[in-house]
Amino acid sequence: MSSHNPHDLSRRDFFKIVSSFVGSLMGLILGLPLISYFVSPALDEQGGEKWIPAGPLDNYPVGEPTLFTFTLTKQHGWEKTAQSYGVYIIRHSDTEVTVFSNVCTHLACRVRWHDDVSEFICPCHDAHFAEDGTVISGPAPRPLDKYEYKIEDGTLYLHLVEG
Ligand code: FES
Repeated sequence: MSSHNPHDLSRRDFFKIVSSFVGSLMGLILGLPLISYFVSPALDEQGGEKWIPAGPLDNYPVGEPTLFTFTLTKQHGWEKTAQSYGVYIIRHSDTEVTVFSNVCTHLACRVRWHDDVSEFICPCHDAHFAEDGTVISGPAPRPLDKYEYKIEDGTLYLHLVEG
C-alpha cells in the first residue's frame, strides 16, 4: 500500500499532536523547580536560621521605603508549597537600615507605602503607620514587625523568622 493512506496520515498527525502535548507538559513539569530556583535564589539555611539575600545595599536609596518581595518554596515529600513575603527596606546609611514586614498587625493584609503622606496605609480597614512603623490611627494593635538584618560585602541579608 502507498504511505499516503489517509488513515496513516491522520494517525501520524494524532501522534504528533499527542507527543507535542506531552512534550510541553513535561517542559512545564520540569520547568517548575527552575522557576522556584530563580524566585528564591541562594537560600542559605544553617541551624534553622534563614538569611535571605536582598541584593546590594546600593539598590536601596537612602531614606526611601523600598518594597522587596521574595517567595520561599518548601518541599514536604511530594508536596511543594510557596509562600510570598514582602518587606519595606529603609536605608539610613551604609551600615544601617530598617526592615519592616508589610503585613498589617491588624488582620494581616498588606500595607503599602504612600509617598504623598509619608505613611504606610493598610487598604483593608484603613490602619495608618508612620515611617518608623508606629501606629498613627486605625485598628492595628501594634507597630509593624521588624526584621533583623546584616550587611556583608555590601549585600543586605534579611533574617527570616517563620511563625
Ligand atoms: S488588616 Fe490592616 S487594618 Fe485591618
